[in-house]
Order: sequence, then C-alpha cells, then structure tokens
Amino acid sequence: MKRTILVTGGTGYIGSHTCVALAEHGYDVVIVDNLSNSSSKVVDVIKQLSGQNITFHELDLTDTEALGEVFDAHPIEAVVHFAGLKAVGESVEKPLWYYQTNLVSTMNLLEQMEKHGVWDLVFSSSATVYGDPEQLPIPETASTGATNPYGQTKLMIENICKDVAASNPNWRLAMLRYFNPIGAHASGDLGEDPTGIPNNLVPFVMQVAVGRREKLNVFGDDWDTPDGTGVRDYIHVVDLAAGHLAALENLKEGWDAYNLGTGTGASVLEVVKTTELVTGKPVNYSIAPRRSGDIATSLADPTKANNELDWRADRNIRTMIVDAWNWQSKNPEGFGD
Ligand code: NAD
Ligand code: UD1
Repeated sequence: MKRTILVTGGTGYIGSHTCVALAEHGYDVVIVDNLSNSSSKVVDVIKQLSGQNITFHELDLTDTEALGEVFDAHPIEAVVHFAGLKAVGESVEKPLWYYQTNLVSTMNLLEQMEKHGVWDLVFSSSATVYGDPEQLPIPETASTGATNPYGQTKLMIENICKDVAASNPNWRLAMLRYFNPIGAHASGDLGEDPTGIPNNLVPFVMQVAVGRREKLNVFGDDWDTPDGTGVRDYIHVVDLAAGHLAALENLKEGWDAYNLGTGTGASVLEVVKTTELVTGKPVNYSIAPRRSGDIATSLADPTKANNELDWRADRNIRTMIVDAWNWQSKNPEGFGD
C-alpha cells in the first residue's frame, strides 16, 4: 500500500523537488498550494519527471474549511509543510501579513491533522533561527533568536510544534533547518523561479549570466571571512529534497530539529567565479554596502542529520551551479507566468 503524503507549498521551489523525490520513492503525493509564489505548470513537470500521478488542490492554508475537505478526501498519513511567505525584507515591511499567513496556516494545518488523526509532520524551518551565530559550524543546540518577522515566524512555529508535541504522545514532528538551498533538478525542467528582482545570491547571479540583469551588487567585501565577502553553506535542492524523505522515514516520537546543510561554505566571490567557469560568461559585479541584517558566515554542523537520519548532502558547489545554469539557460524566463 502506498503511503499518502500531503505536501503544502508543493508547487514551490523546494516543495516541487521534494514531490518528485517522494513520488519516485513510491509515495502518493497530494499537493495543496495557493500558487501565490509558484506556477500551476509545476504540477505537470512533477508528473513527467517522476512518471507518477499526483493530486493538486489549489487552496489557501488559511482556509480551514477547504483544508479539512482535503483531509476528508485523501487517506493522508503524514504532512510535509513548505507553504509560507519567505522574503526577509518584505516581512520587515509587512509583518502582520507574515505573522497572519505563516502562523495561521500552520495552526490550521496542525488542527486539521489532530482532527483527522494525522500525527507526522516535517516542517520547513531555516538556519535563520540561529540569528547571528555564536559558534561555527552551528549545531542544533546553539542558541536561537530571530532578527526579522520572517525568522520570528519560523521560531514561533517551531515552538508551537514543541507545545503540540507535549500535548499528545502520538505526535512526531521534525523541524528541518535548511541552510542555503540552490541548484535545480538535473533535467533542467524544474528550478527556482523567483518573481521580481531576486533577493538571494544564486538566482541573481544566474540572471546576470543569462543577460536578464546587468550586474551583481556584492553586499560588502569587508566581512571577517577569507576574501571579505559573505560565506554560506549552500546545499543542492535535490540533496535537500532527499533530506525530507530521510526525515519522514526516521520520525521519532515528540519534537526534534535537524540542520540540513553540507558543513562546507562558499563566499560570494567563489560563487561568482564558479558561475563564470561553468557558464563561460562574465558575471559583472561591483562592491556595494553591506545589506542590513546580514552576517559574515553561516555554516551547518550536519552531524545529527547524517547520523540520525542516515542522510548526507553530497553535491558540491560546482554541481549546484551546473544544475542551476542548466535550468536557467533552458528556461531564461522561468516558468514564464
Ligand atoms: P516557495 O515560495 O517557492 O514555496 C512556497 C510555496 O508555498 C509557494 O508555492 C506558495 O505559492 C505557497 N504558499 C504560500 N503561502 C501559502 C498559503 N497561505 N497557502 C497555500 N500555499 C501557500 O519557497 P521555497 O523556497 O520552496 O521555500 C519553502 C519553505 O522553505 C518555506 O517555508 C521557506 O520559508 C522555507 N525555507 C526556504 C529557504 C530558501 O532559501 N528557499 C531557506 C530556509 C527555509
Ligand atoms: C537569506 C535570508 C535568510 C534565509 C537564507 C536561506 C535574507 C536577508 N536572508 O539569507 O533569512 O534563511 O537566505 O535561504 O534574505 N549577496 C550579495 N548580493 C546579492 C544577494 C546576496 O552579495 O544580490 C550575498 C549576501 O550578502 C550573503 C550571500 O550573498 O553574503 C548569500 O545571500 P542570500 O542568498 O540572500 O542568503 P542569506 O543571506 O544566507
């Protein structure tokens, strides 16, 4: 019997790659997404890449009634919860929208799960919960603290899940703290398609390489790092997707948190250089002031996930850029809607 998994935000960047992995591994996938930051075309791409049928419901998670109907209609056994708003700057400008959407969505989801006796949840958290880290690489035991409303919603949801876990021993909740997901499916048919000007480094660099934008602003070259530019733990989105399967298959009673990263960092200039090598195109850049809220270095200690989930992120920065470029050059306008 195939297990049915509900994937919220399943047409989004990380969700779509995870749906391919789930379907390929014999799970029945049911997606709910309001398409506020993704394309309905993704549903067919997931079907093509996995060779499996999947079910899609267009709905907003803040609509409890519609969500309840999805639980009534499918024998859901577990939920992977990606849906939410994720832009840091936007969250500073519109905090209430972020709290409203991310918190109400998650509470509705947990409520419907409880009502329908579905106790297994894998949640998209973020390395942002570590704020400006005191320790590198960062273990899960490091202190947490958020510096913006988006990060606050991740921390609050982690804490809500902790309280929920304490209320009933049936619950099994895994918080996955992603570091910096980049890259795309090796087919080049699925990848990150940000709307407007990309906030994140790699989508911006790709748009410079493909000729959609003139140059990259490097936010500071005076950080305390080897070349003065920010260092991040980039993780291939396909490795990250595999991390969700591993988490789902190794859920334990109660609440737990896992870092999903490689443990290896790359600087902004290393990303630029690798992109130039891979694409054969120059990536114009100039040094700009530091971006508010940025930190010098973010690096995961992924030991816990390696040991307890039997999972490891193997793809290196070159492969990440090769796959991101393959997607970008095949689809210069993304999904085109
Ligand atoms: P994404 O925007 O591509 O995917 C999120 C999906 O959720 C989108 O398809 C969007 O349409 C949907 N959605 C948003 N609000 C919804 C609502 N109220 N009801 C139903 N659907 C809704 O983002 P992503 O990069 O794939 O991120 C997925 C999750 O991982 C998010 O929770 C994000 O905060 C978290 N995360 C992402 C990163 C990253 O760098 N991409 C890093 C750490 C954590
Ligand atoms: C961003 C989010 C963070 C989230 C993380 C993981 C912000 C402020 N923070 O952080 O909450 O958890 O992604 O996805 O959005 N850079 C440039 N020029 C650019 C863009 C970025 O120089 O145009 C630099 C940044 O200063 C940083 C590095 O590139 O040193 C990576 O930036 P980015 O991709 O935005 O990721 P994070 O800063 O880690």
